[in-house]
Amino acid sequence: MHKTLVTGGAGFIGSHVARQLWAMKHHVVILDDLSGGLLENIPTGVDFVKGSILDHQLLAELFEKYQFDYVYHLAAYAAEGLSHFIKRFNYQNNLTGSVNLLNECIKHEVKCFVFVSSIAVYGSQQTPMTEDMIPQPEDPYGIAKYAFEMELKASKEMFGQDYIIFRPHNVYGENQNLNDPYRNVLGIFMNQILNGEPLTIYGDGSQTRAFSYIDEVAPVIARSVENPSAYGEIFNIGSDHTCSVRDLAQMIQVAFDSQATIHFLDERKEVHHAFCAHDKLKAYFAPVSSVSLQEGIVRMAGWAKKAERKASYKFDEIEIYKNLPSNWKLD
Ligand SMILES: NC(=O)c1ccc[n+]([C@@H]2O[C@H](COP(=O)([O-])OP(=O)(O)OC[C@H]3O[C@@H](n4cnc5c(N)ncnc54)[C@H](O)[C@@H]3O)[C@@H](O)[C@H]2O)c1
Repeated sequence: MHKTLVTGGAGFIGSHVARQLWAMKHHVVILDDLSGGLLENIPTGVDFVKGSILDHQLLAELFEKYQFDYVYHLAAYAAEGLSHFIKRFNYQNNLTGSVNLLNECIKHEVKCFVFVSSIAVYGSQQTPMTEDMIPQPEDPYGIAKYAFEMELKASKEMFGQDYIIFRPHNVYGENQNLNDPYRNVLGIFMNQILNGEPLTIYGDGSQTRAFSYIDEVAPVIARSVENPSAYGEIFNIGSDHTCSVRDLAQMIQVAFDSQATIHFLDERKEVHHAFCAHDKLKAYFAPVSSVSLQEGIVRMAGWAKKAERKASYKFDEIEIYKNLPSNWKLD
């Protein structure tokens, strides 16, 4: 039985990847500090260790104990827009933490390190973004992801450490944190409707994204290690279909039968149109059935209506207040 570590497995994507791996008969260990994830997301049948990838002593003990075959690294603080204002935290958590994990993988000869990066590495380049473009990340979150991608490449050359990199985009679905005010526009809209608040949109809502249902993403990531030809490769992953944020708001209003108004906020610094090509992914991996945005929203809305309601929280260690959007300031 393969022994497999999933970092961030109490979070949204990580919990689905962990569930898939368990169904594939791996012995799954989740490491998560619960800074963003929830205990109720952890699938049955897996071992759970509460702890941080910043705790290299803990990592050394875990790797010694389990002798992992595979590591899926999803733990991160992924609030991309906020990362400008929490640079130190961003690089410590998302870059240094990742390096701590990689050190142990190299020492213990892990067969494959699966890294969940992001299309944030591309910045605002021409669309569709393809894997052969030279990344030009424009925010600390994307810079940390790209730096670690380069670290994996260097570690393959230096130590033979195999890896696969996925660059997902705008994933949504069940288990997503509905209370995070900084990210996941679907979760933010649903939370606002459930709280009887107006939906907030930065700018005029004409920015477009290819929103991707979790079942189009997690199974491919979980099964990837079974395909050695994918080792050392980078893959965009997610939906081919784009939608504007304004249209998305309307679709969510319909799914909740809601009359909520839309409140337009000042535009913020963000990539206006982001979508990628997935030809490479399709060439390497068996297709998964696609789920339309309308259907995905219905499924997520059904879950959200029943999910336990929790208060929204704000990150309380902002490092730079200059240009911080006013609704991100602590009350
Ligand atoms: N959701 C998306 O659309 C999307 C898009 C691109 C990339 N990603 C990447 O996918 C991964 C998972 O994202 P998600 O949307 O599921 O977010 P999430 O916040 O739901 O999951 C991240 C998990 O990591 C945990 N975590 C954070 N810092 C940690 C630390 N120092 N030690 C241990 N655990 C820690 C959190 O508690 C949380 O459970 C992240 O690496 C993110 O950058 C997500």
